[in-house]
Amino acid sequence: MCGIIGYIGSKQVVPVLVDGLRRLEYRGYDSAGVAVVKHGGIEVRRSAGKLSNLEGVLTHQPLDGDYGLGHTRWATHGRPTEENAHPHRDCTGRLVVVHNGIIENYLELKHQLQREGHTFVTETDTEVVAHLVEREMRDDGLENAVRRSLLYLRGLFAVVLMSADDPEKIVAVRNGPPVVVGLGDGEFFVASDIPAILSHTRDVVFLGDEEMAIITRRGVEFTDYAGGSVSKASQRILWDPVMAEKAGYKHFMLKEIFEQPWAIKETVLGRISVETGTVFLDEVGLDAADVRAFDRVVVLACGTSWHAGQVGKFFIEQLARLPVEVDYGSEYRYRDPIVSDRTLAVVITQSGETADTLASLREAKKRGAKSVAICNVVGSMATREANGTVYTHAGPEIGVASTKAFTSQLVALHLLALYLAQVRGTMTPAEIRPHLEALSQLPLLVEDVLKTEGQIEEIAKRFYQCSDFLYLGRGLLYPIALEGALKLKEISYIHAEGYPAGEMKHGPIALIDEKMPVVAIAPKDAVFEKMLGNVQEAKARGGSVLALVTRGDSRLEEVLDPIKDSRIPLPECHPFVAPVVSVVPMQLLAYHIAVRRGCDVDQPRNLAKSVTVE
Ligand code: AGP
Repeated sequence: MCGIIGYIGSKQVVPVLVDGLRRLEYRGYDSAGVAVVKHGGIEVRRSAGKLSNLEGVLTHQPLDGDYGLGHTRWATHGRPTEENAHPHRDCTGRLVVVHNGIIENYLELKHQLQREGHTFVTETDTEVVAHLVEREMRDDGLENAVRRSLLYLRGLFAVVLMSADDPEKIVAVRNGPPVVVGLGDGEFFVASDIPAILSHTRDVVFLGDEEMAIITRRGVEFTDYAGGSVSKASQRILWDPVMAEKAGYKHFMLKEIFEQPWAIKETVLGRISVETGTVFLDEVGLDAADVRAFDRVVVLACGTSWHAGQVGKFFIEQLARLPVEVDYGSEYRYRDPIVSDRTLAVVITQSGETADTLASLREAKKRGAKSVAICNVVGSMATREANGTVYTHAGPEIGVASTKAFTSQLVALHLLALYLAQVRGTMTPAEIRPHLEALSQLPLLVEDVLKTEGQIEEIAKRFYQCSDFLYLGRGLLYPIALEGALKLKEISYIHAEGYPAGEMKHGPIALIDEKMPVVAIAPKDAVFEKMLGNVQEAKARGGSVLALVTRGDSRLEEVLDPIKDSRIPLPECHPFVAPVVSVVPMQLLAYHIAVRRGCDVDQPRNLAKSVTVE
């Protein structure tokens, strides 16, 4: 995905654009660029690489203008070079466009426009939009040229344009990826995400699909593609702008790890009564009769959210007694899934933008499923398309590696499972109550785990030069082993595998030697003795073990080496909140290993915060 920012108002435009791009850089950091309208023409500055490179360019070639656009790119079509950096221009250089998404038929359009005499200078799909709108420009305004162009475009895109031939105007269109319009005092913004504009205004309007915003100094007009007026209510964003800052932490990831007690509390807040053993989750948007009629659940997600889904399977099957399958968004729709109107599709997505997850949601809906999104971003695509949304209230997550979004997804799934159980009558209030008590106490337990950071940093010092790791867990904690391994891979570039501990002897045990640390998630639970056996198997092959154990439980000490092996103590907890409690040390371990290795923790190579291409 990419990040877009646009500004028209009385402030100096370039600092507003660059500041917005800094807050959007999590969306892509392959290249960046800005364009401003100045003295009746357009000037552009671009650079390959991170925003800091663009800032360097702006220092040597300062830029000033009346209003403008900016972009930070995650490359899809064309290499991450300066030429391919947005904004892109038409043949005249009097029109520029920034884009997030994919123009599927760009080659066909490019060849047609080339035959008509347009000269292309980039490898991107975006450039066709500039030339198409150039071709469609008449005397009736940029917005009408864009509307005519839209008739030719296929794909998912957010596109923002300006033309020196129709000055004092920014036109934005949404067909898929998010576009938020910020309403300030005599100034207006357009962006891919709220943090980009939050320091200027909290009043925003989310563009709907197939809608256009025409932004001038006088105000914003919203229309549909055909030009029909659309009335849109503005929303007040309650996030504190500081939430989108590092607030003294070295990295967003570390700050977000430490925000987890708060995020969990927010996600639970107002949704439970411990006293009566009740869960309030009307936002799922499901009739009680439908909930009772469901005969299966399919959970659809990608990456870390898919790991949350694997934990959710345990929750829903054990509490609501519904069979659950968990599928990757990218696999689901290509395997002719079995769905009926008695299927509940639960999509899990922090961003609400992940293309594969959205495609799987559409597939499930098309086949008759009812749907619920578990999502962190208000107004995102997933929330617009699902029948209901259980919001995680984790606040903006900027670090590419998901941390607080994951743990609040686990909490939301726990609540959803309890809610389904309550409506279906598979649990009594007395049975629900201990779960609610555990969820209420969870923030304190996570705070307790966070206090072990110093210890984990020491462990990271010992292991940061290893080139392979094996993570083992069982039951509810097996997906946590997967998540621990993913965290390490994505930010430290160390090869790591997560495995259900019992499976180790069916293959991966061959990998174990003294060079491969084994992270064993072995708290006091129903499968502890099995884990003990697995740790023994690893020890017998010379592996050094890093064990997550319940504080005060010394049973593992019998097999651990007092010097060679490491331990991270976990507080005792209800088994259903153990996934949250156990994942936090693994986030910290990955973080400190990555920092020691000198990796770019918040912006790991090749990644973007969410992937809006299939
Ligand atoms: C998490 O650390 C990853 N960056 C990634 O796996 C992410 O969880 C995945 O791309 C799904 O994103 P979503 O939750 O926004 O849909």
